[in-house]
Amino acid sequence: MPLLNQALRAALDTRQPLLAELHAQGTDCYRLFHGSQEGASGLTIDRYGPQLMVQSFHTTLENAALLELHATINARLGLETLLVYNDRSRGNSRIDRSDTVYQASAAALEDLIGHEWGLKYRVRGRHAGQDPLLFLDLRNARGWVKAHSAGKSVLNLFAYTCGVGLCAAAGGAREVWNLDFAEGNLTVGRENAALNPELLAMEFIQSDYFPAIRQLAGLPIAQRRGQKLPSYLRLEQRQFDLVLLDPPAWAKSAFGTVDLLRDYQSLLKPALLTTAEDGVLICCNNLAKVALEDWREQVLRCANKLGRPVRDCQVLAPATDFPSADGRPPLKTLILQL
Ligand SMILES: C[S@@+](CC[C@H](N)C(=O)[O-])C[C@H]1O[C@@H](n2cnc3c(N)ncnc32)[C@H](O)[C@@H]1O
Repeated sequence: MPLLNQALRAALDTRQPLLAELHAQGTDCYRLFHGSQEGASGLTIDRYGPQLMVQSFHTTLENAALLELHATINARLGLETLLVYNDRSRGNSRIDRSDTVYQASAAALEDLIGHEWGLKYRVRGRHAGQDPLLFLDLRNARGWVKAHSAGKSVLNLFAYTCGVGLCAAAGGAREVWNLDFAEGNLTVGRENAALNPELLAMEFIQSDYFPAIRQLAGLPIAQRRGQKLPSYLRLEQRQFDLVLLDPPAWAKSAFGTVDLLRDYQSLLKPALLTTAEDGVLICCNNLAKVALEDWREQVLRCANKLGRPVRDCQVLAPATDFPSADGRPPLKTLILQL
Protein backbone atom coordinates (compact mmCIF):
# COMPACT_ATOMS: atom_id res chain seq x y z
CA MET A 1 0.00 0.00 0.00
CA PRO A 2 2.33 2.77 -1.23
CA LEU A 3 -0.15 5.52 -0.32
CA LEU A 4 -0.04 4.48 3.33
CA ASN A 5 3.73 4.48 3.33
CA GLN A 6 3.76 7.92 1.75
CA ALA A 7 1.41 9.24 4.43
CA LEU A 8 3.50 7.62 7.15
CA ARG A 9 6.72 9.19 5.83
CA ALA A 10 5.06 12.62 5.82
CA ALA A 11 3.88 12.08 9.43
CA LEU A 12 7.39 11.07 10.49
CA ASP A 13 8.88 14.15 8.76
CA THR A 14 6.45 16.44 10.60
CA ARG A 15 7.31 14.84 13.95
CA GLN A 16 11.09 15.26 13.72
CA PRO A 17 11.30 18.30 16.05
CA LEU A 18 8.75 16.88 18.52
CA LEU A 19 10.55 13.53 18.74
CA ALA A 20 13.87 15.26 19.48
CA GLU A 21 12.15 17.24 22.24
CA LEU A 22 10.46 14.15 23.70
CA HIS A 23 13.66 12.09 23.69
CA ALA A 24 15.49 14.93 25.47
CA GLN A 25 12.83 15.02 28.22
CA GLY A 26 12.96 11.27 28.88
CA THR A 27 9.96 10.20 26.80
CA ASP A 28 9.96 7.25 24.40
CA CYS A 29 6.19 6.68 24.28
CA TYR A 30 4.39 8.70 21.61
CA ARG A 31 2.12 8.51 18.58
CA LEU A 32 3.94 8.15 15.26
CA PHE A 33 0.89 8.08 13.02
CA HIS A 34 -2.57 9.43 13.82
CA GLY A 35 -4.47 7.97 10.88
CA SER A 36 -7.72 9.92 11.14
CA GLN A 37 -5.81 13.17 10.59
CA GLU A 38 -2.86 11.94 8.56
CA GLY A 39 -4.35 9.98 5.69
CA ALA A 40 -5.45 6.52 6.89
CA SER A 41 -8.61 6.74 8.96
CA GLY A 42 -8.86 4.09 11.67
CA LEU A 43 -5.14 3.33 11.89
CA THR A 44 -2.85 4.36 14.74
CA ILE A 45 0.85 3.64 15.23
CA ASP A 46 2.35 4.26 18.64
CA ARG A 47 5.79 3.72 20.08
CA TYR A 48 5.85 2.40 23.65
CA GLY A 49 9.55 2.26 24.47
CA PRO A 50 10.95 -0.80 22.67
CA GLN A 51 7.54 -1.75 21.27
CA LEU A 52 5.73 -0.58 18.15
CA MET A 53 1.96 -0.85 18.69
CA VAL A 54 -0.10 -0.78 15.49
CA GLN A 55 -3.89 -0.71 15.87
CA SER A 56 -6.56 -0.79 13.18
CA PHE A 57 -10.11 0.20 14.07
CA HIS A 58 -11.91 0.08 10.69
CA THR A 59 -10.26 -2.44 8.37
CA THR A 60 -7.66 -5.16 8.87
CA LEU A 61 -4.24 -4.16 7.62
CA GLU A 62 -2.63 -6.42 5.01
CA ASN A 63 0.45 -8.29 6.09
CA ALA A 64 2.70 -6.65 3.47
CA ALA A 65 1.56 -3.15 4.43
CA LEU A 66 2.18 -3.90 8.11
CA LEU A 67 5.70 -5.18 7.50
CA GLU A 68 6.48 -2.23 5.23
CA LEU A 69 5.42 0.34 7.80
CA HIS A 70 7.41 -1.48 10.48
CA ALA A 71 10.54 -1.33 8.28
CA THR A 72 9.97 2.37 7.49
CA ILE A 73 9.70 3.28 11.17
CA ASN A 74 12.68 1.17 12.24
CA ALA A 75 14.84 2.86 9.61
CA ARG A 76 13.69 6.32 10.69
CA LEU A 77 14.14 5.71 14.44
CA GLY A 78 17.35 3.72 13.99
CA LEU A 79 15.86 0.98 16.19
CA GLU A 80 14.65 -2.61 15.88
CA THR A 81 11.23 -2.06 17.46
CA LEU A 82 9.18 -5.05 18.62
CA LEU A 83 6.00 -5.13 16.53
CA VAL A 84 2.56 -5.83 17.99
CA TYR A 85 -0.46 -5.54 15.72
CA ASN A 86 -3.83 -5.34 17.43
CA ASP A 87 -6.66 -5.53 14.94
CA ARG A 88 -9.68 -3.91 16.58
CA SER A 89 -11.76 -3.55 13.44
CA ARG A 90 -14.32 -6.13 14.51
CA GLY A 91 -16.69 -6.53 17.46
CA ASN A 92 -16.90 -3.26 19.34
CA SER A 93 -13.19 -2.52 19.16
CA ARG A 94 -12.22 -5.83 20.80
CA ILE A 95 -8.79 -7.08 19.79
CA ASP A 96 -8.87 -9.91 17.27
CA ARG A 97 -6.71 -12.31 19.23
CA SER A 98 -6.67 -14.99 16.52
CA ASP A 99 -3.93 -12.89 14.94
CA THR A 100 -4.23 -14.15 11.39
CA VAL A 101 -2.32 -11.24 9.88
CA TYR A 102 0.80 -11.08 11.96
CA GLN A 103 1.92 -13.22 14.86
CA ALA A 104 3.81 -11.01 17.30
CA SER A 105 7.09 -12.48 18.55
CA ALA A 106 7.34 -13.72 22.13
CA ALA A 107 9.78 -10.87 22.86
CA ALA A 108 7.23 -8.28 21.69
CA LEU A 109 4.56 -9.73 23.99
CA GLU A 110 6.74 -9.80 27.09
CA ASP A 111 6.35 -7.25 29.87
CA LEU A 112 8.37 -4.24 28.70
CA ILE A 113 9.13 -0.76 30.01
CA GLY A 114 8.39 2.57 28.35
CA HIS A 115 9.31 6.05 29.56
CA GLU A 116 7.46 9.34 29.80
CA TRP A 117 8.65 12.51 31.53
CA GLY A 118 11.57 10.45 32.86
CA LEU A 119 9.26 7.91 34.57
CA LYS A 120 8.96 4.20 33.85
CA TYR A 121 5.67 2.64 32.76
CA ARG A 122 4.59 -0.96 32.24
CA VAL A 123 4.14 -1.79 28.56
CA ARG A 124 2.24 -4.95 27.65
CA GLY A 125 1.13 -5.59 24.07
CA ARG A 126 -1.76 -7.92 24.98
CA HIS A 127 -3.60 -8.13 28.25
CA ALA A 128 -7.14 -8.63 29.50
CA GLY A 129 -8.21 -5.11 28.47
CA GLN A 130 -8.39 -3.55 25.00
CA ASP A 131 -6.37 -0.35 25.30
CA PRO A 132 -2.61 0.03 25.74
CA LEU A 133 -1.80 0.70 29.39
CA LEU A 134 -0.95 4.38 28.90
CA PHE A 135 -3.16 6.89 27.03
CA LEU A 136 -0.64 8.96 25.10
CA ASP A 137 -2.83 12.00 24.38
CA LEU A 138 -2.90 12.81 28.13
CA ARG A 139 0.91 13.30 28.22
CA ASN A 140 0.75 17.10 28.49
CA ALA A 141 -1.70 16.89 31.40
CA ARG A 142 0.60 14.42 33.17
CA GLY A 143 3.49 16.82 32.56
CA TRP A 144 1.46 19.69 34.02
CA VAL A 145 0.66 17.64 37.11
CA LYS A 146 4.34 16.71 37.54
CA ALA A 147 5.30 20.39 37.38
CA HIS A 148 2.60 21.60 39.81
CA SER A 149 2.32 18.95 42.54
CA ALA A 150 5.04 19.91 44.99
CA GLY A 151 3.73 19.69 48.57
CA LYS A 152 0.14 19.00 47.43
CA SER A 153 -2.44 16.36 48.21
CA VAL A 154 -3.56 14.87 44.87
CA LEU A 155 -6.66 12.87 43.94
CA ASN A 156 -6.55 10.99 40.61
CA LEU A 157 -10.12 10.04 39.61
CA PHE A 158 -10.79 7.28 37.03
CA ALA A 159 -7.11 6.56 37.55
CA TYR A 160 -6.79 3.62 35.09
CA THR A 161 -3.08 2.62 35.40
CA CYS A 162 -2.30 5.62 37.65
CA GLY A 163 -0.07 7.61 35.27
CA VAL A 164 -1.33 10.93 36.64
CA GLY A 165 -0.74 9.74 40.21
CA LEU A 166 2.79 8.70 39.32
CA CYS A 167 3.49 12.16 37.89
CA ALA A 168 2.13 13.80 41.04
CA ALA A 169 4.41 11.62 43.18
CA ALA A 170 7.36 12.49 40.93
CA GLY A 171 6.47 16.17 41.23
CA GLY A 172 6.83 16.07 45.02
CA ALA A 173 3.19 15.63 46.14
CA ARG A 174 2.85 14.90 49.85
CA GLU A 175 -0.05 12.49 49.31
CA VAL A 176 -1.49 10.76 46.21
CA TRP A 177 -4.75 8.82 45.94
CA ASN A 178 -5.63 6.86 42.77
CA LEU A 179 -9.29 5.88 42.50
CA ASP A 180 -10.74 3.37 40.02
CA PHE A 181 -13.22 0.51 40.25
CA ALA A 182 -11.21 -1.91 38.10
CA GLU A 183 -8.85 -4.05 40.14
CA GLY A 184 -6.83 -5.02 37.05
CA ASN A 185 -6.12 -1.38 36.17
CA LEU A 186 -5.01 -0.57 39.72
CA THR A 187 -2.79 -3.66 39.69
CA VAL A 188 -0.94 -2.17 36.71
CA GLY A 189 -0.85 1.12 38.65
CA ARG A 190 0.91 -0.74 41.47
CA GLU A 191 3.35 -2.20 38.92
CA ASN A 192 4.04 1.33 37.65
CA ALA A 193 4.71 2.44 41.22
CA ALA A 194 7.07 -0.51 41.74
CA LEU A 195 8.96 0.46 38.57
CA ASN A 196 9.69 3.84 40.19
CA PRO A 197 10.59 2.83 43.76
CA GLU A 198 12.24 6.16 44.61
CA LEU A 199 8.82 7.90 44.61
CA LEU A 200 6.37 8.52 47.46
CA ALA A 201 4.14 5.51 48.16
CA MET A 202 0.69 6.15 46.63
CA GLU A 203 -2.76 5.05 47.80
CA PHE A 204 -4.87 2.82 45.54
CA ILE A 205 -8.60 3.12 46.22
CA GLN A 206 -10.70 0.47 44.52
CA SER A 207 -14.19 1.90 44.43
CA ASP A 208 -16.98 2.99 42.16
CA TYR A 209 -16.65 6.70 41.44
CA PHE A 210 -20.11 7.75 42.56
CA PRO A 211 -20.19 6.57 46.19
CA ALA A 212 -16.52 7.46 46.69
CA ILE A 213 -16.67 11.02 45.38
CA ARG A 214 -20.01 11.77 47.02
CA GLN A 215 -18.67 10.70 50.42
CA LEU A 216 -15.51 12.76 49.92
CA ALA A 217 -17.69 15.72 48.91
CA GLY A 218 -20.05 15.27 51.86
CA LEU A 219 -23.06 14.54 49.63
CA PRO A 220 -25.67 11.83 50.22
CA ILE A 221 -25.46 8.66 48.15
CA ALA A 222 -28.59 8.48 46.07
CA GLN A 223 -30.50 5.25 46.10
CA ARG A 224 -32.49 4.37 43.00
CA ARG A 225 -36.16 3.85 43.72
CA GLY A 226 -36.88 0.32 44.86
CA GLN A 227 -33.29 -0.80 44.36
CA LYS A 228 -30.92 -1.74 47.14
CA LEU A 229 -27.41 -0.38 46.63
CA PRO A 230 -24.48 -2.82 46.62
CA SER A 231 -22.05 -2.36 49.51
CA TYR A 232 -19.35 0.25 49.01
CA LEU A 233 -16.08 1.39 50.54
CA ARG A 234 -16.58 3.93 53.36
CA LEU A 235 -14.60 7.16 53.10
CA GLU A 236 -14.50 10.31 55.24
CA GLN A 237 -15.42 13.71 53.82
CA ARG A 238 -12.27 15.63 52.83
CA GLN A 239 -10.68 17.83 50.16
CA PHE A 240 -7.54 17.63 48.03
CA ASP A 241 -5.31 20.43 46.69
CA LEU A 242 -5.18 19.00 43.17
CA VAL A 243 -7.87 16.81 41.64
CA LEU A 244 -7.85 15.21 38.20
CA LEU A 245 -11.14 14.13 36.64
CA ASP A 246 -10.64 12.11 33.43
CA PRO A 247 -13.69 9.87 33.00
CA PRO A 248 -14.46 7.49 30.12
CA ALA A 249 -17.00 8.68 27.52
CA TRP A 250 -19.69 6.34 28.83
CA ALA A 251 -19.89 3.68 31.56
CA LYS A 252 -22.73 2.28 33.63
CA SER A 253 -22.47 0.85 37.12
CA ALA A 254 -24.87 -0.03 39.92
CA PHE A 255 -24.33 3.48 41.32
CA GLY A 256 -24.82 5.64 38.28
CA THR A 257 -23.98 6.34 34.67
CA VAL A 258 -20.92 8.15 33.40
CA ASP A 259 -22.19 10.03 30.35
CA LEU A 260 -19.96 12.83 29.08
CA LEU A 261 -22.47 13.93 26.45
CA ARG A 262 -25.63 14.21 28.53
CA ASP A 263 -24.51 14.58 32.10
CA TYR A 264 -21.01 15.89 32.84
CA GLN A 265 -22.41 17.76 35.83
CA SER A 266 -23.06 14.75 38.04
CA LEU A 267 -19.35 13.91 37.74
CA LEU A 268 -18.14 17.48 38.03
CA LYS A 269 -20.19 18.73 40.96
CA PRO A 270 -18.79 16.37 43.64
CA ALA A 271 -15.28 16.70 42.15
CA LEU A 272 -15.52 20.49 42.57
CA LEU A 273 -16.62 20.09 46.18
CA THR A 274 -13.69 17.73 46.82
CA THR A 275 -11.22 20.34 45.57
CA ALA A 276 -9.81 22.63 48.29
CA GLU A 277 -10.22 26.43 48.34
CA ASP A 278 -7.33 27.78 46.23
CA GLY A 279 -7.00 24.29 44.80
CA VAL A 280 -6.89 23.09 41.19
CA LEU A 281 -9.31 20.82 39.38
CA ILE A 282 -8.15 19.44 36.03
CA CYS A 283 -11.09 18.06 34.09
CA CYS A 284 -11.19 16.24 30.75
CA ASN A 285 -13.76 15.36 28.14
CA ASN A 286 -12.64 12.98 25.38
CA LEU A 287 -15.86 12.91 23.38
CA ALA A 288 -15.17 14.28 19.88
CA LYS A 289 -18.75 15.48 19.37
CA VAL A 290 -18.62 17.78 22.40
CA ALA A 291 -17.30 21.21 21.41
CA LEU A 292 -14.75 22.78 23.73
CA GLU A 293 -16.63 26.10 23.96
CA ASP A 294 -19.95 24.47 24.95
CA TRP A 295 -18.34 22.17 27.46
CA ARG A 296 -16.23 24.94 29.01
CA GLU A 297 -19.34 27.09 29.44
CA GLN A 298 -21.14 24.19 31.12
CA VAL A 299 -18.20 23.59 33.47
CA LEU A 300 -17.90 27.27 34.45
CA ARG A 301 -21.67 27.56 34.96
CA CYS A 302 -21.72 24.47 37.20
CA ALA A 303 -18.86 25.86 39.32
CA ASN A 304 -20.64 29.21 39.68
CA LYS A 305 -23.93 27.59 40.68
CA LEU A 306 -22.11 25.61 43.32
CA GLY A 307 -20.53 28.73 44.81
CA ARG A 308 -17.06 27.61 43.68
CA PRO A 309 -16.39 30.16 40.92
CA VAL A 310 -13.36 29.53 38.72
CA ARG A 311 -10.65 32.19 39.14
CA ASP A 312 -8.72 31.07 36.08
CA CYS A 313 -9.41 28.53 33.34
CA GLN A 314 -6.64 27.30 31.08
CA VAL A 315 -7.10 24.98 28.08
CA LEU A 316 -4.42 22.33 27.67
CA ALA A 317 -4.19 20.72 24.22
CA PRO A 318 -2.57 17.37 23.45
CA ALA A 319 0.91 17.55 21.90
CA THR A 320 1.42 17.62 18.13
CA ASP A 321 1.75 13.83 17.84
CA PHE A 322 -2.08 14.08 18.03
CA PRO A 323 -2.59 16.58 15.20
CA SER A 324 -6.00 18.05 14.55
CA ALA A 325 -6.56 19.90 11.28
CA ASP A 326 -9.56 21.86 12.60
CA GLY A 327 -7.95 22.61 15.96
CA ARG A 328 -10.57 20.50 17.71
CA PRO A 329 -8.88 17.46 19.24
CA PRO A 330 -11.29 14.93 20.82
CA LEU A 331 -9.48 15.15 24.17
CA LYS A 332 -10.22 18.51 25.81
CA THR A 333 -8.58 19.43 29.11
CA LEU A 334 -9.37 22.39 31.37
CA ILE A 335 -7.20 23.47 34.29
CA LEU A 336 -9.48 25.25 36.75
CA GLN A 337 -8.02 27.37 39.54
CA LEU A 338 -10.68 27.53 42.24
C1 LIG B 1 -10.53 6.37 29.98
S1 LIG B 1 -9.92 5.56 31.42
C2 LIG B 1 -9.33 6.93 32.29
C3 LIG B 1 -7.95 7.31 31.84
C4 LIG B 1 -7.07 7.72 32.98
N1 LIG B 1 -7.56 8.92 33.64
C5 LIG B 1 -5.61 7.89 32.58
O1 LIG B 1 -4.93 8.74 33.16
O2 LIG B 1 -5.13 7.16 31.71
C6 LIG B 1 -11.40 5.11 32.21
C7 LIG B 1 -11.19 4.47 33.60
O3 LIG B 1 -12.40 4.68 34.32
C8 LIG B 1 -12.67 3.54 35.10
N2 LIG B 1 -14.11 3.60 35.42
C9 LIG B 1 -15.16 3.60 34.58
N3 LIG B 1 -16.33 3.76 35.26
C10 LIG B 1 -16.00 3.88 36.57
C11 LIG B 1 -16.76 4.07 37.76
N4 LIG B 1 -18.09 4.16 37.76
N5 LIG B 1 -16.08 4.14 38.93
C12 LIG B 1 -14.73 4.05 38.97
N6 LIG B 1 -13.95 3.87 37.87
C13 LIG B 1 -14.58 3.78 36.68
C14 LIG B 1 -12.22 2.37 34.26
O4 LIG B 1 -11.94 1.25 35.05
C15 LIG B 1 -10.97 2.96 33.59
O5 LIG B 1 -9.81 2.66 34.33
